[in-house]
Amino acid sequence: MASLAGRLLGLASLASAFVSRDGTGRLPAMGWNSWNEYECNISEGVFITVARQLVDLGLKDLGYEYVNIDDCWSDKELRRDATTGELIPDAEKFPRGIVKVAEEVHSLGLKLGIYSDAGTDTCGGYAGSLGYEELDAATFSKWGIDSEGQDLKYDNCNVPPEWADEYEYIPEEPANNAPPGYDWGTSNTAKRYRVMHDALQRQNRTIQYSLCVWGHAHVERWGNSTGHSWRMWGDIFPAWKGKEKWSWGLMPIVNQASLLWNYTDFGSHNDWDMLEVGNGDLTIEENRSHFALWCALKSALIVGTPLDTLALRKPILDILSNKELIDFNQDPVYGASAMPYKWGNDRPANTSDRDHPAAFWVGTSVKGIHVFLLNTRDTAVNMRAVFAEIPPLKSGGKGYLVHDMWTGEDLGIFRKYFELEVKAHDTAALTITKADGKHPNPRWSPK
Ligand code: GAL
Repeated sequence: MASLAGRLLGLASLASAFVSRDGTGRLPAMGWNSWNEYECNISEGVFITVARQLVDLGLKDLGYEYVNIDDCWSDKELRRDATTGELIPDAEKFPRGIVKVAEEVHSLGLKLGIYSDAGTDTCGGYAGSLGYEELDAATFSKWGIDSEGQDLKYDNCNVPPEWADEYEYIPEEPANNAPPGYDWGTSNTAKRYRVMHDALQRQNRTIQYSLCVWGHAHVERWGNSTGHSWRMWGDIFPAWKGKEKWSWGLMPIVNQASLLWNYTDFGSHNDWDMLEVGNGDLTIEENRSHFALWCALKSALIVGTPLDTLALRKPILDILSNKELIDFNQDPVYGASAMPYKWGNDRPANTSDRDHPAAFWVGTSVKGIHVFLLNTRDTAVNMRAVFAEIPPLKSGGKGYLVHDMWTGEDLGIFRKYFELEVKAHDTAALTITKADGKHPNPRWSPK
């Protein structure tokens, strides 16, 4: 049970979070982004097709609303208009400009997202916004045309030396040389992101602001006053384990989330990166774990798989369409991420293990208490949710009704524990209510 002090602290962090007046950014963003599958191979057609598919596949009705253009959309050679200084869209990829894409996206009731960088150049080497924040915020705003919200993903490549941080903090890198107590909110990284925040605030439309800062400069400590969400990590790739220089499979990311889940609340979200569901050679179970955990962590749900063939890939579409998991992610009353209540795999709590992150998670929603059981092992195992171990529950009494969020079925009433077989790399997702279906502990929250 969260203490009163804990709940007051939660309220304090809510007060400083960056929730826009119209509610933009209060809940994790949902939508689609081009990078994970298309990288620079983008064109107007990709986004217009995606927008139509979001509607046709029923994803829009489930809340997927942003159609986000990532890197490589502007003209790499011309960069900016010689007179106005405005960014120039690539005429081959976007022959009718971004404005027309925005119009088409908006006509379907969806929102457009764009990408830029808090450096001189984007990661792909296109013009960045550093020093042009006011102009670029106004340009993006102008391109939105009507009153629909937009999204800006703001990357962190090509920072000139004069903007280098005094100290360095990069997740999992040894160089964290700041003195104890150093306020990372005063770092140059925070300042670069704040300049764009201020410029966006001056526009007469709401822009969802996603800091793509890879966990650098301890963004989790200042992100909530600067943006609606902040990337906590380098780039995701569609694999279960492993790390390349700047890319991580799913388990290393969940490992980091096991330790840092508690920075998330309404209007302020750790971003564990865009979804790879349906990409690479992830198994169905791995795709299920990916989706269930990103929902549980209240990370943005930004799909990164092509949608034009999704109707044919029914198991993937079913995962992305799981309404019960989406409802947890988008809960209107409880803003906190689920938290690990037990590490599992014979590990002490709060220890780091890239292959075997925390396996037993609990969160709350308007429907009840939710338990997520992650099997990090390469074989099926029986996993047991022991009620006495789960903070908001207790053992005995009339027992609890256990419901399977994947199948939508009630599994029965249990007094001490619920046990089931979880396949290799799969995640069980359960809703637990009192035997009469009521919420077992509406005052409890992980934070
Ligand atoms: C990376 C970012 C990716 C993608 C890419 C584009 O920095 O983390 O998500 O946006 O840049 O170049």
